[in-house]
Amino acid sequence: KATLPTYDHFLIFAHRGASGYAPENTMASFKLANELGADYIEIDLQMTKDGHLVALHDDSVDRTTNGKGKVFLYTLEELKQLDAGSWFNEKFPKRAKVEYEGLTIPTLREIFEEFGHDVNYYIEMKNPEQYKQMEKTLVLLLEEFGFLEENESDGKVIISSFSERSLRIMYALEPSLPLVKLQTSYEVKKSTKRTFNKISKYAVAVGPSYKFVNENYVKNAIETGLQVHPYTVDDPSAIDHLEEWGVTGIFTNYIDIYERNVHFLTE
Ligand code: G3P
Ligand code: MG
Repeated sequence: KATLPTYDHFLIFAHRGASGYAPENTMASFKLANELGADYIEIDLQMTKDGHLVALHDDSVDRTTNGKGKVFLYTLEELKQLDAGSWFNEKFPKRAKVEYEGLTIPTLREIFEEFGHDVNYYIEMKNPEQYKQMEKTLVLLLEEFGFLEENESDGKVIISSFSERSLRIMYALEPSLPLVKLQTSYEVKKSTKRTFNKISKYAVAVGPSYKFVNENYVKNAIETGLQVHPYTVDDPSAIDHLEEWGVTGIFTNYIDIYERNVHFLTE
């Protein structure tokens, strides 16, 4: 099984990029996350009708573009016609760093071409049950960009999913990839040592919804050999506890969470 490095500081995983300040899962969001010094950029993956991996959170384009409908009904060419940035300026005029123009849904290939091996990637397979061979497609792309050779223990690419099935497929395809089992609030609440034991057969960490994470949860996970990566922590006052309990790092929409003015950003 893969391992993750022992990091020398508390990690910041840029949730959908720097999505507090830029439209989530766009190149602008990922670039800003990198500029602001995120340890990892988190990317949600969906797949087009013609089998391309693209960065998008929802399985439809409705919320974050000017289009409508399920992603799997679009070819990449059709998907590329959509505007993936304007909604953010309209919805969050105070948060937007600039006027986001001309942004499209990026492919994972474009993201790898842009950043190469200069950043760390935290890739989430979304709705894998809806897509044909999402796991295989991802492994092939990782291989093409040289992420498999050096991925033994450097943690440059982490793969996550809420789907245990999908993670197990990934494990069978490429056991050297560090895998993370994401957990819904419900799963967090009912997690026991036994749950962690089962997860530790294929994964190196759990990614729990942070609101129900407590000291005991973290203790049990760590004792089972799993790191804990809670999402999505935008409240700076929650960090101290999490750090104290031993979590490795957090997903946040605000990379500058330690400095940010909470009141200004509260909607
Ligand atoms: O990876 C943690 C987090 O991204 C999972 O939730 O819905 O924001 O993708 P979601
Ligand atoms: Mg995600």
